Amino acid sequence: MIHTHTYDALVVGGGGAGLMSAIYLSREPGLRTAVISKLYPTRSHTGAAQGGVCAALGNLEEDHPEWHMFDTVKGSDYLGDQDSIEVMCNEAVDVIIELEHMGLPFSRTEDGKIAQRPFGGHTHHFGQGPVRRSCYAADRTGHMILQTLYQNCIKNGVDFYDEFQVVDLLLSPDGRCCGVVAWHIDTGDLHVFHAKAVNFTTGGFGRIWSITSNAHANTGDGVAIALRRGIPLEDMEFYQFHPTGIYKLGILITEGVRGEGGVLRNDHGERFMERYAPTMKDLASRDVVARAISREIREGRGINGKKYVYLDATHLGADVIENKLPDIADFCRTYLGVDPVREPMPIQPTAHYAMGGIPTDIDCRVVTGPDNTVIPGFYAAGEVACVSVHGANRLGTNSLLDLVVFGRRSGLDMARFCKTADLPPLPENPTERIEATFARLLATEKGEPAAKLREEMQDVMQDHVGIFREGPGMEIALAKVRELQERYRSVLVLDKGKRFNTDLLEAWELGNLLDLAEVTTVSAINRTESRGAHMREDYETRDDVNWLKHTLVTRSDEGALDITYKPVTITRFQPKERVY
Ligand code: FUM
Repeated sequence: MIHTHTYDALVVGGGGAGLMSAIYLSREPGLRTAVISKLYPTRSHTGAAQGGVCAALGNLEEDHPEWHMFDTVKGSDYLGDQDSIEVMCNEAVDVIIELEHMGLPFSRTEDGKIAQRPFGGHTHHFGQGPVRRSCYAADRTGHMILQTLYQNCIKNGVDFYDEFQVVDLLLSPDGRCCGVVAWHIDTGDLHVFHAKAVNFTTGGFGRIWSITSNAHANTGDGVAIALRRGIPLEDMEFYQFHPTGIYKLGILITEGVRGEGGVLRNDHGERFMERYAPTMKDLASRDVVARAISREIREGRGINGKKYVYLDATHLGADVIENKLPDIADFCRTYLGVDPVREPMPIQPTAHYAMGGIPTDIDCRVVTGPDNTVIPGFYAAGEVACVSVHGANRLGTNSLLDLVVFGRRSGLDMARFCKTADLPPLPENPTERIEATFARLLATEKGEPAAKLREEMQDVMQDHVGIFREGPGMEIALAKVRELQERYRSVLVLDKGKRFNTDLLEAWELGNLLDLAEVTTVSAINRTESRGAHMREDYETRDDVNWLKHTLVTRSDEGALDITYKPVTITRFQPKERVY
């Protein structure tokens, strides 16, 4: 059965960016807004962000948005667009105060101000040493943001469609965005949502790797849907590995541990970051720290020769750990039987965050091509998007900031747009494409389960398109991903029913992951330099002459991936060698 709904604005995704966008839309009298989310919103992955959201409040020492901007540009290895970065760093202060006024329970300094802690790559006086810039709520900052925003959405009467999986984007015959098709997971029915504007805030796709901090739901749905609708994906070769995930499990151990004074140690007990980053040490930027850990492991200095090192917080004392880092203490006790008050934590880098995604301008309008042509009515914000504030490497705590700043900007611009735009016509038979996809997935009687194909994809991506990369290895990964895409044609969905068919959902999600693994690998093979998180052992240096540009990958009608480029916006800070 197909249901139809009409709204002015739709927000797809119930995480931080989506909810912030919805709050701003809901403040606009007369505007009909709905949030469509594959999860119950407060289960969104924003809730897993731990250590903080940064802003140059200067609550504990001198700080300025300009220093924050410099750090972010440098952290991005000069690939971030400086106009977007400037907007984000300037608006950070105001948006944090706004969150506080919405009721967010930040941790406090002794004199009652919002507490701040240092994080990797955040410095004072343009790189002179760590600065306390990350505003936090213990190590549950994302969770608190999500709860606060959700409560405000409920207060403002936003309509929610929870556990509705958006499966297609609708474009009217004249190229305007006009809605989405969603699959109600409970009933198995399709719903057509007709609207003037749609905002994709669907998050990332860490599930293409085997060791990841990402939740099961992070399957890149929005990014993959956009690709299928002919929209280019930007800078997909840049994927961040967070330095400290729980060994083998990948679960995040916040950088806030190092912010509070925790240190990394190898098998000799050596604080090895002193060798890699003499000024910032354990608080160098994430790409630098993740590479250093991997080198220690590769060179045999992992603990007992294994693939992990220690994150040591034992000198911080029980008070700091129990009060400022209670969740990670709990995770270590529960998952590892390790008490971080008394024992070091075994960690390894974990796939964490997509710097690339759907290209947008600073108002979150989706743009295509080298000249940034706007697709009217289509928006994206948060990790799904590439407004290019993170470039080749994101700084810790800039992701929650990106969500709230660009969530707000998207809501504001959509509201402006919806006031004057008319409702574009729907395409003929809007559910045709997804019905054909589901029918094919359900028809298979012989084939392999999604879980098997997914595991093979994750293993090959982990081995060859991880922290260190080189051409021949990535070619192996690409061939494997394409073989898996072939085998995926007969993926076996055993559950043929309609209600809560998670077997079908997982199979559909796997199609998204495979497409994104392919684009990531193609983009990474193509970029013959090392920059930020993209470290090629066969092209070890950054090459600004040939590669100071953004990659755009589009799927052609014939199915091939085409690569084009667009320039990086440089306003204040010229590229320099990056040292920490
Ligand atoms: O380490 C962390 O708490 C993660 C923060 C982030 O990814 O920004």
